Amino acid sequence: MDIFEALKNRRSIRRFEDKPVPDELVKKIIESGQWAPSACNRQDWKFIVIDDKEIRGQITRNTSAYFVGKAPLLIMVLYSNRTDNLEYKDHLLSAAMAIQNMQLAACSLGLGSCCVNNLPVKSKLRKILNIPRHYDPVSLLCLGFPKSYPKPLKRKESLDEIICKNKFDFKVDFHGLDLKLNVKRAVRYIYYRLPASVKKLMDPIARKFEKRFDE
Ligand SMILES: Cc1cc2nc3c(=O)[nH]c(=O)nc-3n(C[C@H](O)[C@H](O)[C@H](O)COP(=O)(O)O)c2cc1C
Repeated sequence: MDIFEALKNRRSIRRFEDKPVPDELVKKIIESGQWAPSACNRQDWKFIVIDDKEIRGQITRNTSAYFVGKAPLLIMVLYSNRTDNLEYKDHLLSAAMAIQNMQLAACSLGLGSCCVNNLPVKSKLRKILNIPRHYDPVSLLCLGFPKSYPKPLKRKESLDEIICKNKFDFKVDFHGLDLKLNVKRAVRYIYYRLPASVKKLMDPIARKFEKRFDE
């Protein structure tokens, strides 16, 4: 698949065929991640392929991302947080580069993927997956053969609206205190820390919210 075709046609896939992903494709996808650029060429990523039922269950119980439990394959992407460039958090950027490579590779191999950050709170996730403190869990990649492939989403702005020259010269779209955002941040902070049993009670709301993106 041509790179621009993959870029423009890739969609987040949340519904998968009940069919395993062959090991050679899993390796190919992870290898694509490994070929991403990384800050100072550290290549400090690690990939946990999760196929243990109990571990999958622990993650599924602690997320309201309704499709995680049904995804044939889960890959947790980690990156060492032992970076000196905390200013730009370059370890997260390096991991994101790998994830994008993996999603494009999956797309070109006829697979679907969705990057998920609606996860258990980090401290809990560390315990479930035995992740040491010097690695950050960056995102969970759900993978599988797509049940259907939705059309590309429209870009919200034209190219001209997102490019300017030399200095920031865009219409200011934010004026100081954003109360709504602060409330949303507080709700999410609390939500992440709720016990799994209470979180489950909120599943229908979270699902409704996530399904908005799933068209
Ligand atoms: C950093 C990041 C985190 C995301 N987390 C979630 C998530 O927790 N649950 C989910 O359903 N989708 C998640 N997504 C997928 C986005 O909702 C999706 O990329 C967006 O709606 C655009 O749709 P598209 O990927 O099909 O173009 C995430 C995407 C990114 C880049």
